[in-house]
Amino acid sequence: MNVEEIKKDFPILANSEMVYLDSGATSQKPKYVLDKMEEYYNKNNANPHRGAYSLSVTATQEYENTRKRIAKFINSRYSEEIIFSKNASESLNLIAYSYGMDNLKKGDEVVLSIMEHHSNLVPWQYVTKKTDSKLNYMYINDDYELSKEDIETKITNKTKIVSITHVSNVLGTINNVKEIIKYAHKKGAIVIVDAAQSIPHMKIDVQELDADFLVFSGHKMFGPLGIGVLYGKKEILNKMNPFIMGGDMIEYVYEQETTFAPLPNKFEAGTQNVGGVIGLGAAMDYIEKIGYDNIEKIEKEVVGYARQELSKLDFLELYMTPNEKNHSAVISFNIKGVHPHDVASILDRYGVCVRSGNHCAQPLLRFMGLDSTCRASFSIYNTKQDVDKLVEALKNTYNMFKKYIS
Ligand code: ALA
Repeated sequence: MNVEEIKKDFPILANSEMVYLDSGATSQKPKYVLDKMEEYYNKNNANPHRGAYSLSVTATQEYENTRKRIAKFINSRYSEEIIFSKNASESLNLIAYSYGMDNLKKGDEVVLSIMEHHSNLVPWQYVTKKTDSKLNYMYINDDYELSKEDIETKITNKTKIVSITHVSNVLGTINNVKEIIKYAHKKGAIVIVDAAQSIPHMKIDVQELDADFLVFSGHKMFGPLGIGVLYGKKEILNKMNPFIMGGDMIEYVYEQETTFAPLPNKFEAGTQNVGGVIGLGAAMDYIEKIGYDNIEKIEKEVVGYARQELSKLDFLELYMTPNEKNHSAVISFNIKGVHPHDVASILDRYGVCVRSGNHCAQPLLRFMGLDSTCRASFSIYNTKQDVDKLVEALKNTYNMFKKYIS
């Protein structure tokens, strides 16, 4: 399938002039996913795990079969290693509270990269303060990449947890998480991978990476909002305490004591977002129908073209690695002397949607000496014409502001 055919699969984009360049915030949804969710609600909706009647059994089967489907998609050994959450943020909070709080002590260290999203940073600040452990950062070099040297200086025998994004939501830098995991394991640390910005673009194999935990959101990978995944190695998850308590995560409840259900239910309290789970399974079907090889090919072409065309605009500052092979589908930029919110608002007048702000990564922006940027993030439905429209709109925006730029 080529980009034009793919675009037709997305009702919001088909027959529209809009240039959607904010897939890093949330991707658009193909009709296939929307139809599967509608079919679930129209035909199979009931509360899973709760009813003896056949409709509830069907809902349970749909829910649990999708768990198996997701396990296969990321190649986890057991389907009970897949825990459903609201999003990557909730998955990261679960790990910080249920693993971090119980396993960190004074003298221990947690290592993050400076490019983490707040959701992989604020929970660790909280937990390291509570446990009197220390939070350290690996910084970026002039190429907007982590250096091997900094990785090896920061991850030491004191490090108990490394939590790192696979792809930066601001820079698009792809971190070599496989090497980081290998190195951290040698030092005795466990590693958490935030795959929210990578799984829409590249194949993830948790066994090949040997990640201890890996998290992602459904809504950035063509699935619905409000559904996320936590993958964890079974032997680690089994030893952890639950995060949220309530219905369906228990075995026996007495007046003063409770025993907890085995995996995965131990971590899934309350009625779950079954429609969201069905939508996420459908999104994975859709990705497999297109194929990751094809996705990478399409995105490499459009992002490569964007890199080339944006680099020609001397009024732009670009924040991206020069090493194309380490760069995913996000490009942050500023028009020198113009606030990114103003730029984004003017681009919107030309039908171009980009995100502006600190992208929930204030420590990274501060490290770079910035408050905010504009960010164009690409997906399989973006064409070279979209890039041309972005460039044209940027030129017009610059011309509008240039007399005010000192
Ligand atoms: N985390 C999302 C982003 O980077 C919302 O835009």
